[in-house]
Amino acid sequence: MWKTSGALLVSGFLLSAAAASEELVGHGGAVRSLAASRTGLLLSGSFDTSIMLWRPGERKAPARFTLLEGPVNAVAISTDGRRAAAGGDDGRLVVLDLESGQILWRREFEAKVLTLALSERAGLIAAGTADGALHVLTLEDGAPRATASLGTARPTALLFDEQKGAIWVATHTGALVHVEPARGAVSERLPASGFAIADMVQLPDGILALGCIDGTVRLRRLPDLEPVGELAGHEAPITALALEPDGRRLASGDIKGRIVLWSLAERRPERVLEPHRGPVWDLVFSGPESTLWSAGNDAIVRRWREGEPPPRPAAAEEPGASARARDDAATEAPDRGARLFRACVACHTVTADSGNRAGPTLFGIFGRRAGSVPGYPYSEALAKSGIVWTEETIEQLFALGPDVLTPGSKMPLQRMPDAQDRAALIAYLKRVTTPAARSSENGG
Ligand code: HEC
Repeated sequence: MWKTSGALLVSGFLLSAAAASEELVGHGGAVRSLAASRTGLLLSGSFDTSIMLWRPGERKAPARFTLLEGPVNAVAISTDGRRAAAGGDDGRLVVLDLESGQILWRREFEAKVLTLALSERAGLIAAGTADGALHVLTLEDGAPRATASLGTARPTALLFDEQKGAIWVATHTGALVHVEPARGAVSERLPASGFAIADMVQLPDGILALGCIDGTVRLRRLPDLEPVGELAGHEAPITALALEPDGRRLASGDIKGRIVLWSLAERRPERVLEPHRGPVWDLVFSGPESTLWSAGNDAIVRRWREGEPPPRPAAAEEPGASARARDDAATEAPDRGARLFRACVACHTVTADSGNRAGPTLFGIFGRRAGSVPGYPYSEALAKSGIVWTEETIEQLFALGPDVLTPGSKMPLQRMPDAQDRAALIAYLKRVTTPAARSSENGG
């Protein structure tokens, strides 16, 4: 179990159960996408190639899954919290059973996956890819149902029209496309305007809110898309939108880090928050108390809730985990193992002189007894585990998860379900953490 006492602060990296209060800390790079279930689970996807599952308020350790070889661009979760999906730069779409932690299925597309949406009612998942395609698959087994070409437009956001089994696709040209997979019909309902749409949500009363590059939220009535208003309060391109579950407020985030909370009845800004330096990549409301979660470049998911002081960005960018993650990732040729290791760099270094972060250095890990780096404050569970780290035991660590192999360890729950990913990670670790191999550099 996660140690809830002893908060551990290492090089500005906060590892504690306070992770369950206003900041969710654990990613090793920009957080690009958020999703929430009705059961209170929160899912985040990051540039560090991993997705994390949080149970805010429950004081339970987050679970981490490394499913992709590249940055994660989009995540989705079913309303019942049982299924999760992630898509990213490597063109993969992976659907996971969250109860067992097992991959249900995986597809690989020709281009980056940019956006996802799922509909349990229709039993479908839709993925928009950078080559201007919309792929519709069955949620259960990933069987392809339909593929629609959007021409030269890149999809940026998807919305299921549950009643009609259709999908609205927002694009970077400002065009809005309506796709009916059952009929194979694709029709452009709003022409390209030059105002790229970055995000889209459906408001009560059948109104569509479009977050646009000119800093305006445009409101249009479905299904004919009659314009019914605009919300103007940003001075920078809008990057994300989220609707409060009770439909009372809309949150919009922009590329300069500003979040505006709008009263929808009055169509007026109610509050402005600035929780991140740099872009707000995604926003989501979750929970009965309407908590707003925001994600940005600083690798931390921040919370705001009525009655709380507004969240603040970290004092300085420099010691931030994301800056370090980028540097470390850049020092190695990005083979598969190196890319997977991005999920670890926030907490571990690999060289003789770089020391400990939130986790102990992995320099010389092969053949090392668990819990033996002098001066590092290990959990008793790990220190007394009797494990010696070898290719086999590290493989087990990520096949089973630290919670199973070393119960009581304070390493956050994470698994790497794909055996090939584990092999690539271990090959990489061998190469960069073995002292002899580094100096004679022909061991591979
Ligand atoms: C959020 C921080 C965090 C991340 C991310 C993380 N670890 Fe850890 N790791 C830890 C902590 C903390 C410990 C020490 C656990 C203890 O004392 O119980 C640890 C321990 C370990 C150990 C045992 C080291 C020893 O000296 O016995 C290995 C091996 C390890 N981690 C590998 C990895 C790899 C590989 C990844 C990426 C796939 C990873 N970790 C990601 C925090 C992290």
